[in-house]
Amino acid sequence: MAMEYSAKVMEHFAHPHNVGSIDDANGIGEVGNAKCGDIMRMYLKINGDEIIEDVKFQTFGCASAIATSSIATDLIKGQPLSEALKLTNQAVVEALDGLPAVKIHCSVLAEEAIKAAINDYYKRKGVHCVVDESCGCAHEHDHAGEDDE
Ligand code: FES
Repeated sequence: MAMEYSAKVMEHFAHPHNVGSIDDANGIGEVGNAKCGDIMRMYLKINGDEIIEDVKFQTFGCASAIATSSIATDLIKGQPLSEALKLTNQAVVEALDGLPAVKIHCSVLAEEAIKAAINDYYKRKGVHCVVDESCGCAHEHDHAGEDDE
């Protein structure tokens, strides 16, 4: 059965934006999709004002994962970290004019990879994690006030 993709999904899949890596990235996040085994890696270059100056991604995944990564990176480029942290997979799906229901799980990768990369940035700075546990990223969380017993 043919799957219905919006024109925007097809456009971002055929010509994804911000593909690649950043040599001097100061936040890198990698997440995997438990449902299908696909992987996404997100590279952020964050400046001293906590603005995302540059962002690139590598996705070893399906068309929906590539399209969502592409549009998600467009949405956070030039944004402060506080805004990037608010990006939800729902917003990403809406920006793509929707995804087939069976592909919604693919869009979660982009949100999680961005949060994992921001978490990595804070870890490198020695700052406590600001990403809540719902991000599902692979990094262990080190929330302020959560002392080891
Ligand atoms: Fe794996 Fe879409 S099927 S991310």
